Amino acid sequence: MTDLSLEFCGIRYPNPFVLAAAPTTDKEEMVARAFEAGWGGAVLKTTSVETEDVSLVYPMMTGLDYDGKRLAALQNIDLISHYHIDVVEKRVRALKKEFPDRVVAASIMGQAKEHWQELVQRLETAGVDLIECSFSCPHGMPERGMGSTIGQNPDLVERTARWVKEAARRVPVVIKLTPQIADITVAAQAVKKSGADGVCAINTVKGIIGVDIHDFVPQPRVLDKSTIGGVSGLAIKPVALRCVAEIARDVGIPITASGGITTWRDAVEFLLLGARNLQVCTAAMQYGFELVKDLKEGLGNYMEEMNFSSVEEIVGKALPNLVDHNSLSRNHKVVSRVDEDRCINCGRCYIACNDGGHQAITMSEDRVPQIDEEECVGCGFCTTICPVYCLQMERVEEKS
Ligand SMILES: Cc1cc2nc3c(=O)[nH]c(=O)nc-3n(C[C@H](O)[C@H](O)[C@H](O)COP(=O)(O)O)c2cc1C
Repeated sequence: MTDLSLEFCGIRYPNPFVLAAAPTTDKEEMVARAFEAGWGGAVLKTTSVETEDVSLVYPMMTGLDYDGKRLAALQNIDLISHYHIDVVEKRVRALKKEFPDRVVAASIMGQAKEHWQELVQRLETAGVDLIECSFSCPHGMPERGMGSTIGQNPDLVERTARWVKEAARRVPVVIKLTPQIADITVAAQAVKKSGADGVCAINTVKGIIGVDIHDFVPQPRVLDKSTIGGVSGLAIKPVALRCVAEIARDVGIPITASGGITTWRDAVEFLLLGARNLQVCTAAMQYGFELVKDLKEGLGNYMEEMNFSSVEEIVGKALPNLVDHNSLSRNHKVVSRVDEDRCINCGRCYIACNDGGHQAITMSEDRVPQIDEEECVGCGFCTTICPVYCLQMERVEEKS
């Protein structure tokens, strides 16, 4: 068995796969089942002090279908857990007793300094391994000055993270950031300045997933109204990858990634761009806790294929290849090439090139695409369209 263990914020995880704070971690029994399936850790759903009023609405989730595929994205208007700290501290104790080798993290949110600090102290006493602070929920909580209201203001990020760090005597503190900010590295710098140990990037992306076109109610509909919510799942992976890469490149603070991780390939991409820990929410909700078996097996096989002897060796390996636009080569030419044996003659590349590219593809009489290499500028759009992946870009010459 390949060793998948990886250190994050001073803690050795048996593998980097962690359940993110979400419905999947809102019950002790669920987390226990997830640990039995093989998850390296779990962040218990965000909790608060007993006086915090958590008033949930239903339904709270709607999916975005695309081209017949369910759940290209998920939108939720869930809030933090309705279980307060008194319940969560018991869960931490029980889970740590039963699974001493797994990382039990707890996510917290408070309104005032005393709340944040009380939550930290009670969780430390209960034996939690790591504390994650949500400065990032984009709906509901910001209306009360919590969640992404903090994450969008670097001064509030630094001040609040300092409160938490001040109270934490034993365990590392991770701040979960929102992508709803012009430059996420500014927020991550504020975390670093506060002395907190790491960041989680990202929480959900603020959105409206759809509108009923017959009665004009946006979704998810709560009777006849809706509200702006948080989008998660595969569709937000590019935003999350970008945020992780920017923080890794410009700030240099340990990162636990969250946002669209669905397959082992996604996981590897996040590691390559600098994440040291991988949180999964929507995919675990969709496919169940057994998903971790595929994630672990895929990562292990990849490491063998690539001759990596530890996960550590993967972390940040793609960062040197992420450069400014100005630094990209202009001195080469690529053109599109067709694998005629695989082509199914559908003509989609022709339409795409004609109406979205540079009119470099024509169709032969037997409907095989023909590339005019003089006209092809190498934009690459046709390769994104082909349903059987039979087009690819090839380098043909250096430009003078
Ligand atoms: C229904 C739902 C509830 C969530 N609740 C929380 C929460 O209580 N605290 C938190 O920090 N993030 C929460 N999240 C955000 C997830 O932890 C995660 O950061 C986000 O969904 C992106 O990851 P994903 O694309 O793997 O789902 C929630 C997400 C969903 C879908």
